[in-house]
Amino acid sequence: MMERGPTHGGGPFSCLWGMDCSMSELERVCLAVSPELLEKAGDIASIGTLDTLEQKRIELLGKKGYLTDLMKTLGSLSPDDRKVRGAAFNAARVTISELLDARKAMLEGAALDQRLARERIDVTLPSRPEATGRIHPISQTIEEITAIFAQMGFMVAEGPDIEDDFHNFTALNIPPEHPARQMHDTFYFGEKPEGGRHLLRTHTSPVQIRTMLRDKPPIRVLVPGRTYRCDSDMTHTPMFHQVEGLVIDETTHMGHLKGCLIEFVRAFFEVDDVPVRFRPSFFPFTEPSAEVDIGCSREGGELKVGPGAGWLEILGCGMVHPNVLRNCGIDPDRYQGFAFGMGVERVAMLKYGIPDLRTFFDSDLRWLKHYGFVPLDVPTLSGGLTR
Ligand code: DAH
Repeated sequence: MMERGPTHGGGPFSCLWGMDCSMSELERVCLAVSPELLEKAGDIASIGTLDTLEQKRIELLGKKGYLTDLMKTLGSLSPDDRKVRGAAFNAARVTISELLDARKAMLEGAALDQRLARERIDVTLPSRPEATGRIHPISQTIEEITAIFAQMGFMVAEGPDIEDDFHNFTALNIPPEHPARQMHDTFYFGEKPEGGRHLLRTHTSPVQIRTMLRDKPPIRVLVPGRTYRCDSDMTHTPMFHQVEGLVIDETTHMGHLKGCLIEFVRAFFEVDDVPVRFRPSFFPFTEPSAEVDIGCSREGGELKVGPGAGWLEILGCGMVHPNVLRNCGIDPDRYQGFAFGMGVERVAMLKYGIPDLRTFFDSDLRWLKHYGFVPLDVPTLSGGLTR
């Protein structure tokens, strides 16, 4: 055993294990008080729990503890005895207190070591999966449509949901008596002091006007956005989505319109031989105008896009009316182009077999889990639009 020197002010226990100490500091200070004190304090260094240690502290040094009681007897002693006994009591108190503290620190350290060993984290364990959200089919469908037209060189443009009469109707060659302008078809705001009313746009076509007023041809824009109409039943919701397209250049003709939309339909529905039909129609802002139908089959009650006996209407289109170009300061003798507009909900329902339009906006998480898309599964033409 290594020899340790006697105390050099280094604490009362330095000679507890010292070869040259026949009696430990604790024994010495306790016996100077009473053999009983040594009996009570002798086991401090071997106490095994913090609770027991605290009990021991209370028993010896607490308000009603053994040493405290002894202190109270000092008053009845002669001055000389009081001096000697008082010093002995104090020495015992200091030594015991330090011993208790040392034991406490030791037990606390051991408890901490144990906890650290017990609570060790295994950083190699795979983490628990986070609950992930889903991409709404409307967002996904807009992304898909945008990806296809982006590949053809279209830029995305946007416009305000709150429009004025000029952009939503007048500039688009929609006459004042047109039914779309009626109160029961459109959400109007109050009359402006300078006349006219704001309204929630009824289609994305006003962004055609905004684009042509702002940019010079050649123009090639795609406009996804929200649109509004006073309609609410099985197949209509007051708010819905459209994607508008506009191409203006010097030589753009109907063949470009057809090629562009046929290409789109094939890419979007991922059916190469889907029949596409251009059916003559009317829109105030295009001349000639057409509606586009795609082929479908209904076998066993299941609607399938592709060759078949049926047709489904999916969008409106046409060559931009000369009046519209003129309203935007574009010379119709030099420039011409085509436009198209489609309902996002409608094409999403057809592509993904969603039967009820209203469920798009019910915010039912079970529905979203079923029809929604995994985040980061960004649609690209090369990767397949849907996975
Ligand atoms: N704006 C039309 C609607 O909401 C859709 C439309 C038809 C847009 C023909 C066009 C177009 O750009 O050329 O019903």
